[in-house]
Amino acid sequence: MSTAPIVHIDLAAFWADPYPTLKKMRRETPIAFVPELNRTLLTRRDDIIKAEPDFAIFSSQQPEGLMVKLMGENLMRKDGEAHAVERKAIFPTVSPRTVRDHWTAQFKTSATEILDELGTSGDGDLFTGFATRLSGEALRSLTGLTALSWQDIDQASQAMIDGVSNYAGDPTVEARCRIATTRIDTAITAAIPNACANPGLDLLSIMLGADLPKPSIHANIKLAISGGQNEPRDVIAGIIWALLTHPDQLKLVLNGQITWLQVFEEFVRWLAPIGMSPRRVAQDSTLFGVDFKIGDDVFFMFGSANHDEDYFDNPEQFDITRNAGKHIAFGAGPHFCAGAWASKALIAGVALPMIFERLKNLRLTGDVRVGGWAFRGVLNLPCAWGQL
Ligand code: HEM
Repeated sequence: MSTAPIVHIDLAAFWADPYPTLKKMRRETPIAFVPELNRTLLTRRDDIIKAEPDFAIFSSQQPEGLMVKLMGENLMRKDGEAHAVERKAIFPTVSPRTVRDHWTAQFKTSATEILDELGTSGDGDLFTGFATRLSGEALRSLTGLTALSWQDIDQASQAMIDGVSNYAGDPTVEARCRIATTRIDTAITAAIPNACANPGLDLLSIMLGADLPKPSIHANIKLAISGGQNEPRDVIAGIIWALLTHPDQLKLVLNGQITWLQVFEEFVRWLAPIGMSPRRVAQDSTLFGVDFKIGDDVFFMFGSANHDEDYFDNPEQFDITRNAGKHIAFGAGPHFCAGAWASKALIAGVALPMIFERLKNLRLTGDVRVGGWAFRGVLNLPCAWGQL
């Protein structure tokens, strides 16, 4: 256990809203050991920026961790050269150019289909009916697992997220996760012959073409599904909610004074869909005045860094006119999100402009709930559109 000061937290309150606790920690104990999480938390942007690239100390390898045990050893759980080889291998799928020239058109096709079905007037929960569905459709394309439905992708993603954060060891959660991973493994195996015969730009084809070992291919596809579904979903739904509850800011976007990309950057700063990234200390070391021991578990608190008062004035306010460029919602080191360009294209380039263009008089019809700290987002989005 590190020698960082001990800070107790109320886990239920932290789930409901971690930001007040994190603000106090940034001010009083920016690096703290939290017994309820059994982790040392880094909460300031400067400290995370300095620590994250130093993988010799803050390693991503956790061979006996839940993610590796349940999903296989993916590139997010590797360091140095082993990580770089796989990261380079998947680049052709997620590069800015492929996103621009290939995926954006597919995302538009999916969004058009969904919006056609929603019609010009109606009501419903757009968290599921738009955000979850579009995010799942995008992942079907990106992974190459087009035989799966968007619902399959969403269910598998949730089951894996629950499985890898099942620190209490609930056997039901583990069993659900294993069913999901088996389902994805089976879908990958079934898709391989076609991906070899007719390779595309999807992750499966690209990794097969790069001759990555089969276990890595399986593990990285499961990583993309567990890590690529809920964030776009939560950002699409969250931005719709944030703009509908800040009508003056919505006007600025619809007038063209602020771009959808600016809205995206401010939203992920304000309400980071991934609040933390875990690391394990790989060598005894003293940093920031704290002694860390081999095996200590550390959380880089990205959500907290994005509210760091040294970088953002009035950080609790959603303000699309600010310069949010210094946020680290996608990470701050070699593990910087591989899906960042695809997400920006999907959300800022397609989902938001299209939904606000197509669904006239879009409005909320009920309370929106928000929760989580490791993964944080809106949980529902009751809306109506069309005739008032
Ligand atoms: C708004 C949407 C998204 C956000 C905010 C987000 C955020 C993140 C964060 C915080 C990390 C960890 C970074 C670190 O530890 O330094 C990460 C890693 C990753 N993300 Fe995303 N993500 C998003 C969408 C996606 C999508 C759609 C995909 C799938 C194509 C994806 C694939 C990955 C992969 C493969 C990694 C591991 C990268 C590595 O270890 O080198 N992400 N993401």
